[in-house]
Amino acid sequence: MLAAYTDLKNAQKVKNFILKKDLLNHDYLPVKELEHIFFPLTKKTKIPNAEVVDTKFNFPQKERPQTIDFLLKDKLTKTELDLIPRSQEIVGNIMILEVPPELKNKEKLIAEAYLKINRNITTVVKKQEMHKGVYRTRKVKILAGKNNKETVHHENGVEIKLHLEKTYFSARSGNERLRISRLVKPNEEILVMFSGAAPYPLVIAKNSPAKIVYGIELNPLAHQFALENVTLNKLEKKVIILLGDVRKIAPTIKKKFNRVVMPLPKTGEEFLDVSLEKAKKGAFIHLYAFLDEKEIDDYAKKVKMICKKGGHPVRILKKVKCGQFSPGTFRVCFDLKLI
Ligand SMILES: C[S@@+](CC[C@H](N)C(=O)[O-])C[C@H]1O[C@@H](n2cnc3c(N)ncnc32)[C@H](O)[C@@H]1O
Repeated sequence: MLAAYTDLKNAQKVKNFILKKDLLNHDYLPVKELEHIFFPLTKKTKIPNAEVVDTKFNFPQKERPQTIDFLLKDKLTKTELDLIPRSQEIVGNIMILEVPPELKNKEKLIAEAYLKINRNITTVVKKQEMHKGVYRTRKVKILAGKNNKETVHHENGVEIKLHLEKTYFSARSGNERLRISRLVKPNEEILVMFSGAAPYPLVIAKNSPAKIVYGIELNPLAHQFALENVTLNKLEKKVIILLGDVRKIAPTIKKKFNRVVMPLPKTGEEFLDVSLEKAKKGAFIHLYAFLDEKEIDDYAKKVKMICKKGGHPVRILKKVKCGQFSPGTFRVCFDLKLI
């Protein structure tokens, strides 16, 4: 390997020269030998105060920060690298990779690279389809790492065990769950409709002064995870999870609530009559919907109308964009107060 060989007293001068002339081979570290030093070079040229030699030994390689761009620089073009979305969703130790269609034939390479740079990730999957059906589930395909779709996600001080295909879960809603828990006042009784693997009940119970949080979920597999998660987080005294259709189960709970959370953005408003029935006067309802920016105000009017017609007028305290479903379409939470 080509190197500039000099004694230590001239080392700085030689280094300055080869840096200035862009001759230093940045992939390797210099090697010291007694009173001398070898600087790895990129090409043969004359260097003042140094002898240019072809060494018989190899230089130690420099440890580079592992980045996707660095790992894929020889496998993808610059244009292809720029197409990779930089923020990928991570659920527990599984990354849910989003790759644009142009990079379909490179998705395994990209997945392997993510696996290398992130020690906490053991599996990289990609979505096979959108969330669908009444359970809002979807299939995922394993691209790299362990053949595993079950994980424990850590969020807002709780652990949420789930299977990516058996229950709906979005790590990206973590901040929104915390936002709701911070609104809760001491001793509130809360109903979370459509509770899935119980992320809302757990996060609220753990991070707020709520007295009790009920969850109702239709999907039996999600319900099983929810029960397990309550135990896992030792929240048995604060969280009660019930299996079944909100429409049938909610009326069997013999109490009204200070707060009702409705995280079913596709069709949540169809259940407003149920939540209004279970909400005390002055209670809060958090209703989620997927809406285009332009639709938000009309939807708010529609919600007010539904509530008024149902005999429970509401005031809309806030409309919070708490996620993006697709370009221009947001997950919006309407914070309602019964008046
Ligand atoms: C969008 S997911 C939200 C799950 C969970 N709250 C979360 O944030 O991860 C909606 C959930 O509502 C459940 N669901 C749909 N219709 C329901 C109903 N009529 N009664 C109870 N749960 C229902 C689905 O099975 C699904 O788990």
